[in-house]
Amino acid sequence: MCGIVGYIGQRKAYPILIKGLRRLEYRGYDSAGVALISPEGDLRVFKSKGKVSDLEAHCQDKDTGGTAGIAHTRWATHGEPSATNAHPHYSASGRLALIHNGIIENYLTLKENLVARGVAFRSATDTEVLVQLVEHIMLANGLSLLEALQVALHQVIGAYAIAILDREHPDTIVCARQSSPLVVGLGADGDFFLASDASPIAEYTDRVVYLNDGDIALLQAGHELRIVNIENEAQQPTVRHIDVTLGQLEKGGYPFFMLKEIFEQPDCLLDCMRGRINVEATRITLSAVIDYGRQLTQARRFIIVGCGTSWHAALIGKQLIESLCRIPVEVEYASEFRYRNPVIRADDVVIAISQSGETADTLAAIELARSAGAFVFGISNAIGASIPRHTQTGVYIHVGPEIGVASTKAFTGQVTVLAMLALCLARELSAISDAAYADMVTELTRIPDKMRQALRSNEQIERLAPIFTYARNCLYLGRGYNYPVALEGALKLKEISYIHAEGYPAAEMKHGPIALIDSEMPVFVIATRDTLYEKVVSNIQEVRARGGRVTALVTEGDTRIRQFADHVIELPDTLECFQPLVAAIPLQLLAYHIAVCKGKDVDQPRNLAKSVTVE
Ligand code: G6P
Repeated sequence: MCGIVGYIGQRKAYPILIKGLRRLEYRGYDSAGVALISPEGDLRVFKSKGKVSDLEAHCQDKDTGGTAGIAHTRWATHGEPSATNAHPHYSASGRLALIHNGIIENYLTLKENLVARGVAFRSATDTEVLVQLVEHIMLANGLSLLEALQVALHQVIGAYAIAILDREHPDTIVCARQSSPLVVGLGADGDFFLASDASPIAEYTDRVVYLNDGDIALLQAGHELRIVNIENEAQQPTVRHIDVTLGQLEKGGYPFFMLKEIFEQPDCLLDCMRGRINVEATRITLSAVIDYGRQLTQARRFIIVGCGTSWHAALIGKQLIESLCRIPVEVEYASEFRYRNPVIRADDVVIAISQSGETADTLAAIELARSAGAFVFGISNAIGASIPRHTQTGVYIHVGPEIGVASTKAFTGQVTVLAMLALCLARELSAISDAAYADMVTELTRIPDKMRQALRSNEQIERLAPIFTYARNCLYLGRGYNYPVALEGALKLKEISYIHAEGYPAAEMKHGPIALIDSEMPVFVIATRDTLYEKVVSNIQEVRARGGRVTALVTEGDTRIRQFADHVIELPDTLECFQPLVAAIPLQLLAYHIAVCKGKDVDQPRNLAKSVTVE
């Protein structure tokens, strides 16, 4: 979802901006643009619909000189994807250029006021209102850009991360943040980098400042970073060090980030467990549980909130915490939770799960929970993102940057953290025997190897994939811990292949989806040998009886299901509660290979965004 890049210093800005936009391509977008202050002091804006490569082609014969610039990838919310609606938007006089992530909720009212004062608009966006408003205030009142911005932001309702170039002050980029992330990179030569996440900055500097809500930052080359708020009170920047290697941002020889990320999972899980499970594999230590053990163990109830894949991980977390700790757990879509006036008590613990740490709905759910007095615990991947900063404590999943829009390694990382959390709490509560705890911790440390084994099915799945490209609908079935895996498998297929897919608890199939089954309908069943194995075998028979085509994920050595399934994919055996960590892998690979066979852009599926910073 919309990406921001900025640079000001001694270097040529354009190549840095284009490279930065490429690093943000994973977020999903439909148009791109760049604004530069030329060496002669002109403000030049270039925009195009489509990919960053289209913008580059558009700029090929243009003068892209200058050492200060801002650039943007837009994911349309207000107004169709087009060059006109792409950012940067410039002010009526052509003096200011502005880029914006987020949504200005009261843009129509602001726009009507400006139109009544004679301001003409070029685009259909909410963003253009901002730049016109700032210039109008600046000129009408003889204010500086900073003063005018402070007045304007008092009038704005909504979420924004913005950056502005001013032709009259070519040595400064002014930026501001409210509910939409913005990171400033501090270069070694007094230069500044700006971006909506650290990935475009990481190759230039490891020193960054994450802006807080209400911050307005002035990036003036050769000067200290200056931050004020909209009341013009000085704010103290906190410099953090980021630890993202370039290799983590590159595809590492894989054709798509998604495939790289699927294959990285064994190593990611080792990183996730490193320092938390001791080398003897006998004990899990989470600092959040040490620091906040009382709040967590005395919770009367857990409420887990998240969106998309994170919500699926939450469903597995519910089963883990309830079965191991015997504390009731509710799972909610963050987007529903925030608006349905839920009952939240002071002795509730709300766990917010978000890979990006920036999902607007999840952030809003956190605010709601906090205002109701609940203790809020975050599970996130992006270090220093908004969600870890707005929760009282939490655990990072530490799986490295996830670039593919369809989440893979973040899912297994989230489930691993939930498993560690459940085990830690169960031990604190004395709800688990020493022997069971020891067995489970040991088994968790074996999961990376079992994932490696599961990844060996890649070639088999690649061969199977073309069989399914014809499908218009697919059904994914699972029970118990494997039901959320079915949901996640279906989501992966929808996201990247655009085949409609539904995940269902296998036993519920007879209450509806069974009507859809015929020989055209691929049905993927997770049928590992667990407590519900016999039941799932019966469910497979129900599908077969209606001519459905079954592909079953079975435990290695299973000969029974092989007799009546069309295809079987073997998985290594593990404890039932950890099965999702292994079973997710062939379903990720299946979605990937089907999408590749269909010629789809796996890493940047249409209409989707990696980080959904609008509600
Ligand atoms: C978007 C992504 C999904 C992701 C969801 C939640 O829709 O496309 O892959 O699961 O957001 O994201 P989060 O960063 O909060 O986990």
